Amino acid sequence: MPTTKLILGQTLRFTGDPFAIGVEAAQHITHGAVVIRDGKIVDVGAADTLRTAYPQAEVTDMGAALLMAGFVDCHVHYPQTGIIASWGKRLIDWLNTYTFPEELRFNDAAYATEISELYCDLALTNGTTTAASYCTIHPQSVDAFFTAAQKRGMRMVGGKTCMDRNAPDGLRDTVQSAYDDSKALIDRWHGVDRLTYAITPRFSPTSTDDQLAALGGLWSERPDCLMQTHLSEQLEEIAWVRDLFPAAQDYLGTYEAHGLVREGAVMGHAIHLTPREIDRMAERGVSVGHCPTSNTFIGSGLCDVTGLHSRGIPVGLATDTGGGSSFSMLRTMAAAYEVGQLRGTAMHPAQLLYLATVGSAKALALHDKIGNLTAGNEADLIAIDLSSTRPIAQRSARAADIWEAVFPTIMMGDDRAIAGVWVGGAAVPRP
Ligand code: GUN
Ligand code: ZN
Repeated sequence: MPTTKLILGQTLRFTGDPFAIGVEAAQHITHGAVVIRDGKIVDVGAADTLRTAYPQAEVTDMGAALLMAGFVDCHVHYPQTGIIASWGKRLIDWLNTYTFPEELRFNDAAYATEISELYCDLALTNGTTTAASYCTIHPQSVDAFFTAAQKRGMRMVGGKTCMDRNAPDGLRDTVQSAYDDSKALIDRWHGVDRLTYAITPRFSPTSTDDQLAALGGLWSERPDCLMQTHLSEQLEEIAWVRDLFPAAQDYLGTYEAHGLVREGAVMGHAIHLTPREIDRMAERGVSVGHCPTSNTFIGSGLCDVTGLHSRGIPVGLATDTGGGSSFSMLRTMAAAYEVGQLRGTAMHPAQLLYLATVGSAKALALHDKIGNLTAGNEADLIAIDLSSTRPIAQRSARAADIWEAVFPTIMMGDDRAIAGVWVGGAAVPRP
């Protein structure tokens, strides 16, 4: 008989979309409980009711901590862990100065393993139980990442980054090797345990039309994989794309020409979009990874999250480390709030938490498995201490409701607020 676990705390789950129906979409229980068995969530409800219903359950009392689904980071570059917070460049210079030299090091499988292990630990410490990561052009960087995730039982998405031009020696593949290596990695990893493969052309400037076509062809052969890339992050980048692809109608068109624009495509950034691009993404079910710490850190711009979401485009939240300046999805929610304010929209805490969980899970087409405290979902959850530091505690002590209690942690919290993490129903040891 598998062990039944009952975790006590305040519970927060979503029964709808807070962007569409407001705060009613969130269900909060002050004295709540989550029941887990066999790696799955079995029940969520009032503590008293569930204690009575599951008298044999092993009880973990998290006090007044907020229990919710683990955070889902829908766009990150684990190989950039070591160069996070590198100063002073704009996108293309930042790639050439910091990113590409660091990514060259992943030719060494031992280094790829070291950083994969570090990244997965940092993610869990921050309450991120799933991430969709770019790896480097080296297949061993994918092996290292998935091996580290597998060891921890994490549901992770990853893919070999493909680049056959405009990248330094040692960091370019070819049309054929990108196809062959990606295909071999799909065979090795896709659907194994909790792992999903994402076909990963880095972005149009570093792939020829032929490479994009080969990867589009691969995606049509393996349609259940995801596809992740970058779109319209910075104005200089868009101008470069225009020069490199004179025949394309716009940036999205460079992907569309090769079968890379459909459900299962996750576009990072998507800031400076044309009305046609937005229409097409909405029609085709393309998702967006909103990367607010990166978009401010690299000076890229203010993504219209609520506008895209209102068009039915699935939008998730993403750290984009190391372009993003934090591993914390709390800090990333704070940045999303600030970007929203600068665009004239104050996102409600329920909307921010939704983006970091259900929103990202939907963006990765994993919402039937993770991202919400729903019976039947996999038991990836976190407990958030709403008084983790003195500045936060003195503010949340005055809170009139859960939203006022959680917002100081969204705005000022970090890994110290993550009081517990469960992956597939197993408690992750505290670091
Ligand atoms: N565009 C292409 N590659 C990258 C990357 O590694 N980070 C960011 N922020 N944008 C990119
Ligand atoms: Zn990125």
